[in-house]
Amino acid sequence: MIRFNIISENRETELFHGEAGLSIVIDVDDYRFLLDTGYSDLYIINAMKLGIDLDKIDTAIITHGHADHSWGVAYLPKGKTIIMHPSCFKKRWSIRRKIQMGFPLEKEALSKVHTLITTTKPLEFKENIFFLGEIPMIVEHEKNGNFSTMLDEDLKEIDYTEDDSGIAIKTEKGLVIITGCGHRGICNTIEHAKKATEESKVYAVLGGLHLRNLDKQKDTIDNTIKYFKENDIKVLYLGHCVSDEVIGYFKEHLNNIEIVSLYSGGIFELN
Ligand SMILES: [Fe+2]
Ligand SMILES: [Fe+2]
Repeated sequence: MIRFNIISENRETELFHGEAGLSIVIDVDDYRFLLDTGYSDLYIINAMKLGIDLDKIDTAIITHGHADHSWGVAYLPKGKTIIMHPSCFKKRWSIRRKIQMGFPLEKEALSKVHTLITTTKPLEFKENIFFLGEIPMIVEHEKNGNFSTMLDEDLKEIDYTEDDSGIAIKTEKGLVIITGCGHRGICNTIEHAKKATEESKVYAVLGGLHLRNLDKQKDTIDNTIKYFKENDIKVLYLGHCVSDEVIGYFKEHLNNIEIVSLYSGGIFELN
């Protein structure tokens, strides 16, 4: 059994506030880990509301160093094992908002209170659960990725966000793939996960795909739909940086796939 406890994300309900960020507690049978810490301390409050004790979670994955996934790390109870790509610490600036969007702490400060594991290679940190490391951009329609930050304040140097990673969980039904923002491309992420886990069947995908604009990203979206069909993916949980418009378009064109929108405080189970 896999349970996704959506601690915080963009969509909110009356009881659970949202923010433009992502934080999920994932249960795989009786093993629990944290994926991303959102933009602020909101995940601390929402976890408490869900009855999730963050003190009892040993491992936290940071999918990439963008503010909306990592700024909450400053509020994380001490003594965790944190797994991430070494480039998470890069300084970066948002193209859209022209503000600093990089990791909130220096490596030394983070290492003082947590055990830090940085890797560019896939890492099976628990049996059948893999941190994917660096994702090569090899699928034709995703060769250019989907980037939202620059490496300099003057916004001249593209940030290829090589730290953008995800999780793959091996199950009897196939892989369950979890992304943060999907900057390196969801199909690239899945292809990389297949290699890292030596499993070619894909059962479900959950997370952000960085697909917001149907007009501007139509080609990528259509090719992604084709890829999901070819890979016979059964369930899609979409949220964070996937717009309602794009989710609607996926639903229209992927009739045989169960498509669910994520929201803060939502609990979703895969059996
Ligand atoms: Fe994001
Ligand atoms: Fe991002």
